[in-house]
Amino acid sequence: MLLSINYGVYDMMIVGGSGSRHLAVKLSRLMRIDLLDVEVRKFPDGEIYVNFLGDIEGEEVILVQSIAKQPNDLLIEFIFEAKTLRDLGAERVIGVIPYIPYARQDTRFKPGEALSIRIVAEMIEWSGINELYTIDTHLHRLKGLEELFSINVHNLTCMRELARYVIKNFKLNEPIAIAPDEEAKQWVRVFSEEINCPYAVLEKRRISDEEVELSIKDIEVVDRDVIIVDDIISTGGTMAEAVRSMKKLNARKVYAVCAHPILVGDALYRILKAGAEAVIGTDTIESPISYVSVAPLIASAILKRERG
Ligand code: R5P
Repeated sequence: MLLSINYGVYDMMIVGGSGSRHLAVKLSRLMRIDLLDVEVRKFPDGEIYVNFLGDIEGEEVILVQSIAKQPNDLLIEFIFEAKTLRDLGAERVIGVIPYIPYARQDTRFKPGEALSIRIVAEMIEWSGINELYTIDTHLHRLKGLEELFSINVHNLTCMRELARYVIKNFKLNEPIAIAPDEEAKQWVRVFSEEINCPYAVLEKRRISDEEVELSIKDIEVVDRDVIIVDDIISTGGTMAEAVRSMKKLNARKVYAVCAHPILVGDALYRILKAGAEAVIGTDTIESPISYVSVAPLIASAILKRERG
């Protein structure tokens, strides 16, 4: 999808934090707005240094920063950047955080645990951004991000973009989409609607941080192409187990699809070794499987909103 809308009257700039440099370039091209450089480095003791290389006074700035892989560093960097943009006189700061971390810790599983996502949301809001765009945030017990933020927040889904990529690049035979757990039902539903195929949901029991157990009831996949759809691939434990179980049930080809390819350690190897034909993700997190860009989705959402 190519955007040919000229931003015209809006005086806007875009800046990519170190978690989303490439995505910021793609957005600046699509939206035809200037890219603002920021120098980010670490001192020998691990402290972070941020320096904007340009005049920000009176500007409306889009700050893009995915917060994955080194979530704590990138979160601090985002806060330094947003606060500094306001300090330097930015008129308005639109935060784009394609991946919001800590969303899976949305409750106290054990007494005494931190409610991490609530604290992170407070920090993001406190940074002074006026509005927030994000992609497929892991919502489970929370119904919407409005429960966490009082600023306007737009939780976009990239599931249709992923489905279109799969349709375009693979010749599917009697496809069926599978969610590895109940939480992923919200994503598989949208994905399968775009592909126009049925979907089913597995039951997951987490054994450890890296291992899960899946149970499958009444799902017929013999000689069908299966697409497993999840929001996150972290260690790859969930996806690898889902691929393995579909292969065991004599599925024809098994594809693994996710919004956020965190890909910790040898996650990709684990999934391919389990028998996946291909593993596909987006550039919410820059990775070797970021085949689908969320830039058009974000650009059109921002432009639509700004144009009222
Ligand atoms: C959890 O409910 C998420 O939707 C993903 O299934 C999970 O985060 C994937 O983690 P991993 O790749 O480590 O199994």
